[in-house]
Amino acid sequence: MKKAYLFIIALFLFSCNPAKDSSKGNTEIEGKIQDLISQMTLEEKLGQMSQFDPGQFGDEENLKQAIKDGEVGSILNLVGAATINKLQKVAVEESRLGIPIIIGRDVIHGYKTIMPIPLGMAATWNPELTEKAMAVSAKEAATEGVHWTFAPMIDISRDPRWGRIAESCGEDTYLASQLAVAMVKGFQGEDPSAPDRIAACAKHFVGYGAAEGGRDYNTAYIPETQLRNDYLPPFKAATDAGVLTFMSGFNDLNGVPVSGNEFTLKNILREEWGFNGMVVSDWASIYEMIAHGYAADPKEAAEKSLRAGVDMEMTSNCYVSSAQALLDEGKLDMRTINRYVANILRVKFELGLFDNPYTDESLAAKTILAPENLEVAKEAASESFVLLQNKQQLLPLSRELKSVAVIGPLADAPHDQMGTWVFDGNKENSVTPLTALREKLGTNKVNFAKGLEISRSRSTEGFAAAVQAAKKSDIALLFMGEESILSGEAHCLTNLELLGAQNELIDAIAATGKPIVVVIMAGRPLTISHVLDKADAVLYAWAPGTMGGPAIADMLFGETVPSGKTPVTFLKTVGQVPMYYNHKNTGRPADYSNWTQLDKIPVEAGQTSLGNTSHYLDAGFDPLFPFGFGLSYTTFNYSGLNISTGSMPADGTMEVTVTVENTGDYDGDEIVQLYIHDKAGSITRPVKQLKGFDKVHLKAGEMKQVSLTLKGSDLEFYNGKKYLTEAGEFDLWVGPNSAEGLHTTFTIN
Ligand code: NOJ
Repeated sequence: MKKAYLFIIALFLFSCNPAKDSSKGNTEIEGKIQDLISQMTLEEKLGQMSQFDPGQFGDEENLKQAIKDGEVGSILNLVGAATINKLQKVAVEESRLGIPIIIGRDVIHGYKTIMPIPLGMAATWNPELTEKAMAVSAKEAATEGVHWTFAPMIDISRDPRWGRIAESCGEDTYLASQLAVAMVKGFQGEDPSAPDRIAACAKHFVGYGAAEGGRDYNTAYIPETQLRNDYLPPFKAATDAGVLTFMSGFNDLNGVPVSGNEFTLKNILREEWGFNGMVVSDWASIYEMIAHGYAADPKEAAEKSLRAGVDMEMTSNCYVSSAQALLDEGKLDMRTINRYVANILRVKFELGLFDNPYTDESLAAKTILAPENLEVAKEAASESFVLLQNKQQLLPLSRELKSVAVIGPLADAPHDQMGTWVFDGNKENSVTPLTALREKLGTNKVNFAKGLEISRSRSTEGFAAAVQAAKKSDIALLFMGEESILSGEAHCLTNLELLGAQNELIDAIAATGKPIVVVIMAGRPLTISHVLDKADAVLYAWAPGTMGGPAIADMLFGETVPSGKTPVTFLKTVGQVPMYYNHKNTGRPADYSNWTQLDKIPVEAGQTSLGNTSHYLDAGFDPLFPFGFGLSYTTFNYSGLNISTGSMPADGTMEVTVTVENTGDYDGDEIVQLYIHDKAGSITRPVKQLKGFDKVHLKAGEMKQVSLTLKGSDLEFYNGKKYLTEAGEFDLWVGPNSAEGLHTTFTIN
C-alpha cells in the first residue's frame, strides 16, 4: 500500500522531541514518523509499544484480528518467511495505518548454523571472526523473516555459578566492549535494512551478571563507580557502534529494578549517551516489578517503566491496561507516549520495513546451512578452543595411531554440543566428535564406549566397556563436561565440578595407564583440578556448535593449532567466587612466601604466626588458570618491550611494541595482551586492566614486532564525581595472559 507522508518542518519536529533530537540524522524519516503519530489513536500507539508471543492470542485468527486492529507492534518467538509474510500482509494492508510489525527472535549464537556459545566466541579474542559469525547468523535468520535479534548479551559475568555466563563475553570490560562492537556490526552491517541484516539488541541493561550468589534474576548491588567502570562500557561501545535497540533486564539494581530505573535508562542511556533507538523490556520484566516490591500493581509498574523510558513492553500488558488511567491522572503525558512510539517507528524505518516489509521466501533454502556458513562455524569453534594442559606435548596426535578410544557422555551428543539458547538449530545438523573422528581415522580405528549415558549419570554400568575400549586403543580421548541444559537462563549451579560419575570415569580410564586427552564441553569454566591431575592433555571446547566435532578432530590431529585464551578466570574451587583478574588490591596482598597450606599449619599455631594476608587457608589466592591463558602446540617468546614515550599527557598516545617469536615447531596464532595498572588514584584502581590485544600469526621460527596503541583516554575512569585520566605512575605489561608478561612503567603528566 502506498502511503503519502506529510513532511513537516524541522522546527516542529524538534519542539515535539526532547533535547537530543538534534542528533537524529534523518529528517525525512523523522517527518514520516511524526506524520504517522499525528494520525494514531492511543490504542494504536500502545499497540506499537507492545510485543507479543503468538501463544498469547490462542489462535491465528485472534492474532490476525489484533494486528488488523493495530494492537501489535512486534511479535517474538515466530519464524518462517511464509508465516511471517502472511501476518505482515495483515499489518501492512489491512490495519488502518499500515505500520509493519517487527519480528524479534533470540538469535544468540547462530540461527541454524550454530556458532560456539558467546563465552566460547569470546575465547577467540577475534573481533573480525566474531563479526563474521554474527553476519552468518543474521543472514540465515533474516531469510526466515526475523528482523531483530535479542543479542548481543554483554553483561559482565564474574560468577561461573550463574548459568548465563555462557551467553556472555566473560569477565572483562575491555574484551566485552570490543566483542560488543563486533557483534553489533555483524548483525546490523553498514546498512541494517539490507536483506541479510537484522537489528541488534544490547542486553540486559544493566548489571544482570552481578546477580548475588550467581543465582539468576537475583538482586545486584553495584556501586556507581563500579557500574560506570566495569558494567556500562560494553553498552556504551554498542551504542557508539550504532546498536538499534536495548533490552532492560530483570534484575534489581541497588534497590531499583532496571526495567523501571530512571538513572540507567533515562539519565545514562538517553541523556548522557544520546541513544535514540528503542528500548524493549525483558519478558514481563515490567510486570515483575510488582514481585520485586517496586510497584503495587500493573498501573504503578507501567508508570515507573514509562517514566524511566522503556519504549516497548515484552509480553506483559501493563502499558495497554494502564496508560489511559495514567493519562487521566496526569501521571503520564501524550508527548512521552509519542516519543516512545517514535523510537519504535524509527527502528522500523531504519530496518527498511516500510519499504520492504516482506521476506523473499526463496532465500532460506539457499542460505541456511550453506557450506560457507558451516566453514565460518568451524573456524569459530576452532579458534574458541583453549588448550589448558599438554604434558610431554601429547597433542597433537599422530595419524599413525593404530586406534583411539572415544569415551564420555559428550563424544556423541549432537544436541548438547550446540549449547544453551538455541531455538532454531537442529541436532541433526551437528557433527559430533565421534562422527568426525570416525571420518578422519576410519571407523575401525575408533573404539567408542560412552561410559556414562549423560553428564549427570551416576551409574557406573558403562565403565567396563569404556575401560575395555581404552585398553585396546593406543590412547583414550574423553569427552566430558555438561549438557547444554545445565547453563543458560535460570540454570545456575553451586557445584562446578564435573557432574555425575565423570571424575570416577576418568579415574577408571587413568588406571589403564593409557595416555588420556580430555576435551571438556561446558557453558562455564568448571573446576577441573581433578581432570588436570589425571589427564595428560586438556582442551576446553565450551559448547562448540554445529561444527564442533570436525573442529575438535582437526585440532587433536594437528591440522589446526590451538589459539584460544580464557575470557574468564578458571577457579580451583567454587568457594573462590568472586575471583576475577582485574580485582582491587587489598592493604595486605598475599604471595606464596606467606601462604601456609591448610595441612601444613602446625597444631596450636599462634594466631598471627601464619602472617596476616588476604588469602584462603585452603585455596590460597590465585586461580587455577588466569584470565587470558591458553597454550598452543608451539611456544612463543616475548622480548624487547618498548614504549614510544615514558611520559605523556592525558590526551596523549603511545606506541607499545614487543617482539614475539614462535620458538616451537608449529605455525600458530598468539594473542598478545596489553595490561596496565594505575598505581595510585583518587579511588583505588584494579591491579591489572586489559587495554589492548592483537592476534598475530607466526610461522614456526618466525619473529614479528607487534605494535599496540595506548591512548591516555584509554586510562580514563569514573572516580565517583567525574570521568578522568589521572596524572601519575602506571605499570604496563605485554604478555601471553593476565599473570605473565614483560613489564615497564610510564607516567601520565
Ligand atoms: C528472557 C531473556 O532474559 C532474554 O535474554 C530473552 O531475549 C527474552 N527472554 C526473549 O526470549
